Amino acid sequence: MSYHETTQNVYKEAALTPDIGLCCTTNPIWELPGLKIPKIMQEMNYGCGSTVHPRDLANNPKMLYVGVGGGMELLQFAYFNRQKGGVVGIDVVDEMLEASRKNFKEAEAQNPWFKSEFVDLKKGDALNLPVEDNSIDVAAQNCLFNIFKTDDLKKAISEMYRVLKPHGRLVMSDPTCEQPMNDTLRNDDRLRALCLSGSLPIKEYVKMLTDAGFGTIEIRARKPYRILDPKHYPTDELIYIESIEVAAIKDPMPEDGPCIFTGKAAIYYGEDDYFDDNKGHVLLQNQPLAVCDKTAGALAALHRDDIFISPSTYHYDGGGCC
Ligand SMILES: C[S@@+](CC[C@H](N)C(=O)[O-])C[C@H]1O[C@@H](n2cnc3c(N)ncnc32)[C@H](O)[C@@H]1O
Repeated sequence: MSYHETTQNVYKEAALTPDIGLCCTTNPIWELPGLKIPKIMQEMNYGCGSTVHPRDLANNPKMLYVGVGGGMELLQFAYFNRQKGGVVGIDVVDEMLEASRKNFKEAEAQNPWFKSEFVDLKKGDALNLPVEDNSIDVAAQNCLFNIFKTDDLKKAISEMYRVLKPHGRLVMSDPTCEQPMNDTLRNDDRLRALCLSGSLPIKEYVKMLTDAGFGTIEIRARKPYRILDPKHYPTDELIYIESIEVAAIKDPMPEDGPCIFTGKAAIYYGEDDYFDDNKGHVLLQNQPLAVCDKTAGALAALHRDDIFISPSTYHYDGGGCC
């Protein structure tokens, strides 16, 4: 059986019998004003982190969500959009599509503003999206791509890139792991399907995105996720898994390489009112300016004693240099 078949069986089971905590962190559930998330959707929250960021969602973007689970994040996206077919949801598992369809009916009963027609559910594969080129403003996936092996991950990312409009954004949450994992873990298809043994170090994950052409990357959050310990898993050492929230923006690739925001800031504390590097970065006296890693490196290379560069906080929420 291929790891895709194992994955589909795991999520068929999870659609038929909701499994609280199957593959999610205890994220706070976003119940915004007038938004009620049905209990069944909360029980079927199989994601890690959130892909719903209001600042991505101005001006009624056309949205795509791949790997629908119980539908909670599609409902949250629909909250901001409220249009027929405003959110296209794609999943390869019939039972998951059926379960989420049912959950949207429940959401309709609990939310007077919501109509099931706001979400257009389609059967399809992340590796071959049934979506037109350059047609989507915001695409999202939560806790699916980490399951894919390298070639499939490349394909899944390139599919998202293909369907996004120029400057459109791919918003994601996935587990990551900075430690090496042994082959027994890597080749355990069930652990992979459960989002436990496929994760990459952040740098490799980001490189997959920039290699696909995304010119801007934002790492918005980094949180503890799981422990694989020798008593419960085939590993000799304790493995610490985190989860990240990332946006990859289909900006043109800058000539000097991608802009990757990992939550660094530069602060000028010299004698003048501001410092201007004449490359588009003006640092006001003692005010942090969010900078991408490339700009942070260029400012550090000036070896000035009046510019401080903060370490990566892995919390980026806009306003950056590039
Ligand atoms: C870990 S769950 C995440 C569900 C949802 N994103 C959430 O946050 O609750 C993975 C989802 O991806 C779906 N899936 C698995 N393989 C897929 C594929 N190749 N293409 C599209 N969806 C897939 C599963 O059926 C399941 O709904």
